[in-house]
Amino acid sequence: MNLLLLNQFLKHHDTDGELIEVIDTLMIACKEIAVQLREGALAGVLGTTDNTNVQGETQKKMDVISNDVMKNVLHTNPLVRGMASEEEDDPVAANENGRFLVTFDPLDGSSNIDINVSVGTIFSILEAPEGCDGNDADAYLQNGRKQVAAGYVLYGPSAVLVLSTGAGVNFFTLAHTGDFILTNENVQIPAQTREFAINMSNQRHWEPNMQRYVADLLQGADGPRKKNYNMRWIASMVAEVHRVLTRGGVFMYPWDKRETGKPGKLRLMYEGNPMSMLIEQAGGLSSTAYADIMDVQPKEIHQRVAVALGSREEVEAIIEYHADSQDSDAAALNR
Ligand code: AHG
Ligand code: MN
Ligand code: MN
Repeated sequence: MNLLLLNQFLKHHDTDGELIEVIDTLMIACKEIAVQLREGALAGVLGTTDNTNVQGETQKKMDVISNDVMKNVLHTNPLVRGMASEEEDDPVAANENGRFLVTFDPLDGSSNIDINVSVGTIFSILEAPEGCDGNDADAYLQNGRKQVAAGYVLYGPSAVLVLSTGAGVNFFTLAHTGDFILTNENVQIPAQTREFAINMSNQRHWEPNMQRYVADLLQGADGPRKKNYNMRWIASMVAEVHRVLTRGGVFMYPWDKRETGKPGKLRLMYEGNPMSMLIEQAGGLSSTAYADIMDVQPKEIHQRVAVALGSREEVEAIIEYHADSQDSDAAALNR
């Protein structure tokens, strides 16, 4: 087997040298997080803290540890002007002449840590606008099309980096040597699927059109969609997106009426945009049901967004089901 290291691969594809340096720095942090996760109970890192984050969610010990690792490591790279994290109230300044801003979800799917199910770190890299301070939230409010790179590291049975610098999507598996090695090149999502992922327990809270769409899927071959669907829900977006990139499918976390003023549950800057870049770069679609996620103009750093992403034709069907609810609250909040 011809082993190609992450760094060699990126250089070979003429990736911007400074961008490669930031990606390398991110991988130092992710490897440290992977080590702590693997030790688990032995390292005393499982369980919950007494703190809640700015989103009002209780923080797991590993949420805090992962966030600290990401922050400390990114600070060491002079190219990083600042960073914004799901677990920080406000953006954090790093190095004043840095060229890039980094946003991240240090540990996605963290409700799964204590049951030893897959979690991940999601990141997005933006150019720092000229003259901005790294702790200036406005500097980060760039739509997803402006991302220069996005990716995640999935900590599953193996640790896998999934990365796009705007020229397709590639997987790199973490070897025992500490190197990330190319294992899937130019990943493409099948346009059609028979698999969907949604938290069905929220069904009664969804918009009528989302209820109608999922009800039609559940009717299988006897219903209007004329095929039998399978369902998965891991409660870890990184794991779901990895399945979608690997074998197709749709993943949804739609607007719901538990909190009508919120566009959705997932976060635009730390989850929606980076995952949308990967999905589109792999030939899929990523939508709020009312707009492409990457076209949503962020107004605040912790903004939420409704998500429907994956196999192109299935996401097109979801958009079609929502065509007559363009005047809804959900639509107004999600374009
Ligand atoms: P996080 O662990 O970063 O807070 O994100 C969890 C997210 C996402 O990964 C997952 O798809 C979703 O929340 C699960 O939500 P439910 O628990 O409502 O199903
Ligand atoms: Mn998350
Ligand atoms: Mn998280």
